[in-house]
Amino acid sequence: MSGMSPDARPRVFVSRRIMPEGLDLLAHEVDVDLWPEELPPDRSELLRRVAGVDGFLSMLTERVDDELLDAAGPQLRVVSNYAVGFDNVDVAACSRRGIAVGNTPGVLTETTADCAFALMMAAARRLPEAYDYVRQDRWKTWGPLLLLGPDVHHATLGIVGFGRIGRELAKRGRGFDMQILYHDVYPASAEDEARLGARRVSMDELLAASDFVTLHVNLTPETHHLMNAEAFAKMKKSAVLVNASRGPVVDPSALYDALKNGVIAAAGLDVTEPEPLPGNHPLLTLPNCLVVPHIASASFQARGGMARIAAQNVLAGIKGQPLPAFVNPDVFASRT
Ligand code: DGY
Repeated sequence: MSGMSPDARPRVFVSRRIMPEGLDLLAHEVDVDLWPEELPPDRSELLRRVAGVDGFLSMLTERVDDELLDAAGPQLRVVSNYAVGFDNVDVAACSRRGIAVGNTPGVLTETTADCAFALMMAAARRLPEAYDYVRQDRWKTWGPLLLLGPDVHHATLGIVGFGRIGRELAKRGRGFDMQILYHDVYPASAEDEARLGARRVSMDELLAASDFVTLHVNLTPETHHLMNAEAFAKMKKSAVLVNASRGPVVDPSALYDALKNGVIAAAGLDVTEPEPLPGNHPLLTLPNCLVVPHIASASFQARGGMARIAAQNVLAGIKGQPLPAFVNPDVFASRT
């Protein structure tokens, strides 16, 4: 709390309204400046609002980079990102300035896996098309060939990225008697593979063998457009793609071509490039592309947990303590 008068309360900017679990925790100890709108502050407003704060509780819609850190000033101690992903934060820039960075892992793992599995089932069994069919008053009779789709049970599930969320997908797949393949640079332990009934394969094998391919990787230069035309060409024509990671992991124009030309059967997307996806985007003209607005962690419980951890990260960072969910713990080590 260097540079503050002894009685001044630390100042924290929170760039969107989050669940009360987090706001209440913060309000006990710091002065909160809360951005009250549904849309994020524009960049110039954001730079104004962070000026002079000790902590910034950011959303994944905010780019935290050198420009923002300069605008905030040297008293900034902590950036607490309200997400498990932190590709919007230049962590190296924060570390160079001794600023702690936090995220919200754990509390959204099962919630996100539930939603990815729901997308998989909805896209396979064509639920959005079926719902439109009823709403458009086209339901005239029971149809023996109406809206057929592939079975999910006993199919092969290919999980790309076998971290916390990917492993929860495997558990759900096991419940549906699916065969589980995964691809990850780090192998799971033999015990975890046995417990989850999962087999590690190359990306090519996963693409060729899977009926469902679900993405759970971080966005990095290596995973940017991991799913491109070449990757789609390796998949089964009957395959369904699910993305609940970050939009740019999938090349959207290659996905459009693959869905339009029957290279793959369907997609269920929680995240897109760009995000938000404009209402007139070509992907939204395709009946076999189900898009939802980045809601995989949107349960009351997960968002409450995220709010609590994000607030705890802020409070710890301001006090110079290790964050409960630390992205760059080296910063703390170098201070002590
Ligand atoms: C995350 O936590 O990274 C999610 O994408 C936000 O819901």
